[in-house]
Order: sequence, then C-alpha cells, then structure tokens
Amino acid sequence: MTRCFIIGHPVAHSRSPIIHGHWLAEHGLDGSYERVDVPPDAVAAFLDRIRSGEFAGGNVTVPNKEAVLPLLDHVSETARRMGAVNTIWMEDGKLHGDNTDAFGFLAHLDDRVPGWDARTASALILGAGGAARAVVHGLVSRGVGRIILVNRSMARAEDLAAEFGAGVEARGRSEAAALVATSDLIVNTTSLGMQGQPPLDLDLTGLRPGTIVDDIVYVPLETALLAEARARGGLPVDGLGMLLHQAIPGFERWFGVRPEVTPALRARLEADIPLR
Ligand code: ATR
Repeated sequence: MTRCFIIGHPVAHSRSPIIHGHWLAEHGLDGSYERVDVPPDAVAAFLDRIRSGEFAGGNVTVPNKEAVLPLLDHVSETARRMGAVNTIWMEDGKLHGDNTDAFGFLAHLDDRVPGWDARTASALILGAGGAARAVVHGLVSRGVGRIILVNRSMARAEDLAAEFGAGVEARGRSEAAALVATSDLIVNTTSLGMQGQPPLDLDLTGLRPGTIVDDIVYVPLETALLAEARARGGLPVDGLGMLLHQAIPGFERWFGVRPEVTPALRARLEADIPLR
C-alpha cells in the first residue's frame, strides 16, 4: 500500500485528507493519506521516516512549510522562490519538494474564467504574506504586466514588490478604493473575511462590471467580498478551487494518476463549509 500524509501542527482541521481520500476511492487505488501532527522541531525526524520507505510523500502545511525546505535533497525553482514547500515525494532515492499553491491558484482561475489572462492588464493584490507571494508568482508567470500590492504593513508589501522587480509595486492603503476602479483582477490573499476573523475593509464602490474578484478565503464559501463583487457585476472566484487544484500535482506524483477536480469532489467539501 502507498502511504501518504499531511504534516502540520495542528493538523486536525486539514481538509486535504478528504480530497485525496476521494481520489483514492475514485481510482480504486491501494493507498492512504493520513494526518500526522508534526511540530517544527520534529520535522527532520519525520523526513527520515519517508527516506526509510514508510511513506511515498505528502503535503506540508503550517507551520512547517518553510522549515522543511533546507532539509530536502532537491527543491523546485518555484518552491525556492516561494521560500516554502507544500508537496514532497521520493524520487530516485532522493527527497524532492515543490510548491503547488501558484499552480492551484492559476488552475482554478483558468477553470472559472477561461481566457482571464488575455484581459488582465492590471491586478490589485491585498496582502503581502506567503499566499500573496504565490499569487504574484502565478500572475507574473502568466504575463500580467502591472501588479499592485496593498497591505496593512506597507514595508512588507514594498519588500515583496522588490523581490519581483519591474511590474510589481506597493501602494498605500488609502489608494485601495481608487485602485479597485482601475484593476481587471482583484485578489484577497489575507485571512480577513474568514470565519472568526475581522471583515476585509475594501471599498468596492468603483468596481467596474466584469472585474474578476478572487478571494483565497474559502470559509465561508461566499465571503462578503465575493457577495458584494457579484452584486456589483463583478466575476467572483472562490477560494475552495485553489485548495482543490493545488492537490493535483502531489496526488499524481505519489500515486501515478492525474486526478481531476470534479463537481462531486467540490460538493463533498462544500458539504461542511458554511455558504455565508
Ligand atoms: P499567509 O502565508 O497565509 O499569506 P501571512 O504570511 O501571515 O500568511 O500573511 C497574512 C496576510 O494577511 C498579511 O498580508 C497580513 O498583513 P501584515 O503583513 O500587515 O501582517 C494580513 N493580515 C492578517 N491579519 C490582518 C488584519 N487584522 N488586518 C489587516 N491585514 C491582516
């Protein structure tokens, strides 16, 4: 049996086992995907268990995504740029790591708004943390020419913008409302608007109809940001799809089958997430 895992601390809340469990059953594979609670100081010892053959690979989540990177034998260019790894696997006796968050973000956007990149000249990104880095990386890779970062901590937005160079810039929060009116794509990468968190404070009055508004928050499924965007004629893109799509490359590596994000899988996850 091929055993896989998600390591995090805590890890009980992770929905990844539902996704991979669904695909294992769908493809009739002899495999497992287990939650393993691994605090940062136990990551190195856990990696030895993979090297010894106990597991084929797995996912890495908070707070281990950065800590695992220097402990691997091979890290993809994308993961290196992210400074974080979310997917690991054994290949030719070596432990490999990749980061599939940007892939997941783009794949879901492609699915929901085909051709979005051809009509996205300017994007507004809210936030400047790890999720923002993945989103900016994805947008740059698809040729979005102008990416503007707005964040509570302006210095953090400036640092992230500097990492990417020309085409990515930081602006103050006071400019957000005006930037809403000139952006083709708006992405919330902060945790604001998530159940139990403060609301995202963004004035959408100037939103042009047809503007794509993507929220990586998926609890609730329709955040206040997405509901208001929809009411104003925007194209809302929810965060659940990114979670589902980022899981595809890992499953394919571990089990040798490229799985699909089907309506049945989505429904399975939606079943225990509040709509609003
Ligand atoms: P992740 O890896 O999920 O992106 P992170 O690196 O902790 O997590 O980043 C969280 C993002 O949400 C940051 O942009 C953070 O703003 P700061 O850089 O100013 O901390 C933003 N964020 C979190 N809580 C916030 C709040 N209450 N108000 C405004 N922004 C918030």
